[in-house]
Amino acid sequence: MVLPIELESWKKLQEHYDTVGRDLVMKELFHEDKNRFKKFSRYFNKNEILLDFSKNIINDDTLELLLSLAKEAKVEEMRDRMFSGEHINITEDRAVLHVALRNLSNKPIYDKGKDVMPEVHKVLKHMKEFSELVRSGKWKGYTGKAITDIVNIGIGGSDLGPFMVCEALKHYAQPNLRAHFVSNIDGTHLAETLKVVHPETTLFIIASKTFTTAETITNATSAKHWFMEHAKDVKHVAKHFVAVSTNTEEVSAFGIDPKNMFEFWDWVGGRFSVWSAIGLSVALYVGYDNFESFLRGAHEMDQHFHTTPLKDNIPVLLGLISIWYNNFFGAQTEAYLPYDQYMHCFSAYFQQCSMESNGKYVLRTGDRAIATTAPILWGEPGTNGQHAFYQAIHQGMKLIPCDFLAPIETLNPIEHGKHHEMLLANFFAQTEALMVGKTDEKVREEMGLKTDNKIVSQRIFLGNHPTNSIMFLKLTPKTLGSLISMYEHKTFTQGVIWDINSFDQWGVELGKQLAKVIEPELSGKGTVSTHDISTNNLINHYKTYKRSSDDIN
Ligand code: F6P
Repeated sequence: MVLPIELESWKKLQEHYDTVGRDLVMKELFHEDKNRFKKFSRYFNKNEILLDFSKNIINDDTLELLLSLAKEAKVEEMRDRMFSGEHINITEDRAVLHVALRNLSNKPIYDKGKDVMPEVHKVLKHMKEFSELVRSGKWKGYTGKAITDIVNIGIGGSDLGPFMVCEALKHYAQPNLRAHFVSNIDGTHLAETLKVVHPETTLFIIASKTFTTAETITNATSAKHWFMEHAKDVKHVAKHFVAVSTNTEEVSAFGIDPKNMFEFWDWVGGRFSVWSAIGLSVALYVGYDNFESFLRGAHEMDQHFHTTPLKDNIPVLLGLISIWYNNFFGAQTEAYLPYDQYMHCFSAYFQQCSMESNGKYVLRTGDRAIATTAPILWGEPGTNGQHAFYQAIHQGMKLIPCDFLAPIETLNPIEHGKHHEMLLANFFAQTEALMVGKTDEKVREEMGLKTDNKIVSQRIFLGNHPTNSIMFLKLTPKTLGSLISMYEHKTFTQGVIWDINSFDQWGVELGKQLAKVIEPELSGKGTVSTHDISTNNLINHYKTYKRSSDDIN
């Protein structure tokens, strides 16, 4: 068994970092090599997406060595195994086939010897028919009125994906259909949503792969109670509740007619499920044709990832650059910064994709990892982030590699596009500022030569902060699909190099188990003494001061 750090290319990278890499200065590299931008940028689908990775602390050798690492870690082999339906999710013995959900090429894809594509198409057809019925107003609620509000009840992958995508594609939504998302078990989430919808015109989508997730089933049950208080007759549930799940039995037990169930399969991981029927709220909100374009965009990126040599493979390059900082520079974090307000949930969405996939210390072999894995991922849209946390990116003591994303064309060219040009000016300025910084001389030139040193030093920017710039033509459903797929495959590439199984999530289980133990203790009599002292005291503090819900109401 060879640990990632024992790979020849890893060792060479370490040596390269120690001798050259850590001292590279991007400004100088640009001076030395007028071709640097050309060399370190790639286009996807002609000009649909441009990745400029020239503002990274890398030279030709770094890239060469990173590419050898991808080769030696067998990224291509693992990628091909994923696309061919092999059970690469070893701890759950499952295929990883979200790529089949957007496989518009119609080429068969097999799981356990069976082509999954006919089933995929069957569900897509069901989604198309259903979304057209609802959007056209032909699907009537129990009093004969058309649906005006959809409420997706789900959590994790059954919420974050559709929520992020509906927000990102709001521009394409029809105004007479609103989408709401309830995920948190905190009753506030459901209560506030129910305040703004009407039972006669609301469709609930209960989205849960397992249909056993406590938060979702509790929220769905409460939503059903609310509905029944108004509709009275249980037969009306069929018009107002549909399910998206892999678990027909539990869906029926909940009281949803299986013909109102949209199926998906165990080979779709929760955090990769927006492409499946979990995307039903997206299809309803922006229309099936737009949903299909979204799938098409992802499919085109899948093909790029599947067939492009490593050196031109955009997701692979992104994964490698991130590993360079994470594992050699010791960066503990990275930020995704979209300069598009519609993408305000983009980074939050990728927290699950990246951190639930790769936030692990156990390797596929069962050994403990030595090289650190998933960086902490976060971000907010520009320019909001600039007025919040960019200070720390520019002058803080942590290295924060950033991906800047922006559309060339805005969907809202108000004031003749002035807003958008201001936005883009900031997008360009930030990556420039992060790289070039500001010298002592420059500060003195601006402030006067006699300025006190302690004032000057505050205004010096060391620069040399790495960024990727990702520009796309316009935020369309198709481009969004490509961008999400691009980052999914980046995450995949990293998981392969770190040698971890990116497709399970045992790390979320322990807290769930303990919550089940604690829940009855909260309403039970007497003090609790079965936990550690801190937890006992916290629980007993709560029990001493809680008021009954009747008192609160
Ligand atoms: O708690 C983690 C998790 O299992 C995620 O991976 C998943 O997306 C989420 O819970 C929701 O699960 P389900 O769709 O089965 O309700």
